[in-house]
Amino acid sequence: MIDVEIIRAQFEQQYGIHPRLIVRAPGRVNLIGEHTDYNDGFVLPAAIDRATYVAARPRDDTRVHIVAVDLHDEDEFALDVPIEQSVTHPWSNYIRGVVKGLLVAGHTLGGANLLITSDVPRGSGLSSSAALEVATGYAFQVLNRLNILGEELALLAQGAENSFVGVQCGIMDQFISALGQRDHALLLDCRDLNYQPVPLPADAQIVVCDSHTERRLAGSAYNDRRDECDQAVQLFRQWYPKIRALRDISVAQFHQHEADLPEPVRARARHVITENDRAVRGAAALEAGDVATFGQLMNASHTSLRDDYEVSIPDMDALVAAAQQVPGCYGSRMTGAGFGGCTVSLVETSAVERFKRNVAAAFRQATGRDTTIYVCRASDGVGRAASE
Ligand code: GLA
Repeated sequence: MIDVEIIRAQFEQQYGIHPRLIVRAPGRVNLIGEHTDYNDGFVLPAAIDRATYVAARPRDDTRVHIVAVDLHDEDEFALDVPIEQSVTHPWSNYIRGVVKGLLVAGHTLGGANLLITSDVPRGSGLSSSAALEVATGYAFQVLNRLNILGEELALLAQGAENSFVGVQCGIMDQFISALGQRDHALLLDCRDLNYQPVPLPADAQIVVCDSHTERRLAGSAYNDRRDECDQAVQLFRQWYPKIRALRDISVAQFHQHEADLPEPVRARARHVITENDRAVRGAAALEAGDVATFGQLMNASHTSLRDDYEVSIPDMDALVAAAQQVPGCYGSRMTGAGFGGCTVSLVETSAVERFKRNVAAAFRQATGRDTTIYVCRASDGVGRAASE
């Protein structure tokens, strides 16, 4: 956790005055329900105790100045001319996109000085970008008294990513960063955005292992998978004309027609439809305190992501295989979009030290590199870390 007093001091050093507020928005780990959100399906993410902080203070002009402490970089843009993408400061586009979204929605904004710092690892699949978007949106809605919170804030942040940054992500990451609950995961229905908090087991820990592999293909392959899901929906419409998304096809209906689907659409649809089912059953298992069943569903999710959805990579498979062999590990899978990044495992508290030792050694042996292991606590969504 980053000490807010240090952030306050950094802001004062930069701007010569203290911040009006400091906002904290968490990263996330998804426990199960991967690549289901943009198919109108179910996800089960938790906000984690790693977050992006935005310290902010209004200015009396129409400019936004941003200091990115961790990147040793700065950017500035004006609110009274159309906001463009920055080529030289790509990190700034998450902020620009959110601010532009507020202006396009008709809100009047004043200028602001911002300072940003984060302990969400960047590019690791723990949603550092969603955390930045949500923290930025929250800061601007406080400074300008807009009262844009919860679901509305999540949709604003997702809109920035879709239309300004250009990644066609679903709603999961921004939603959990906005609405996460301490010690709970949220079972989110990505069709109507209803959600249900699911308590996490008291005697198990969420353990994240970073493969430290660059997620280079992530953007284009992500959009390819979305296209393949759209193709699957078109094909299923010959049997079920009224469906809107893969969410509307049950596992039984899939099996009835799978022989008539071409590859790779068949495999992609199999993943999404079975994963949706696993997410719902997984949440029910956790509710019932049946961690063993939940762990088996996590393992099945990884196999499906690896073989049917083809978004894993050998380094993540190595981390998952090592984790699944540790006594006391209930289950393990890749988490997030894939093509690199992190795995998530649910581990009995008393087995966490053994897990760390064994997985680190096995990963080193398989790849010659080190993994970074984080034991995460599910945390609350965005809010004020401190105010003036
Ligand atoms: C990324 C996207 C999410 C979701 C996951 C895959 O994190 O931002 O919307 O699609 O990939 O489950």
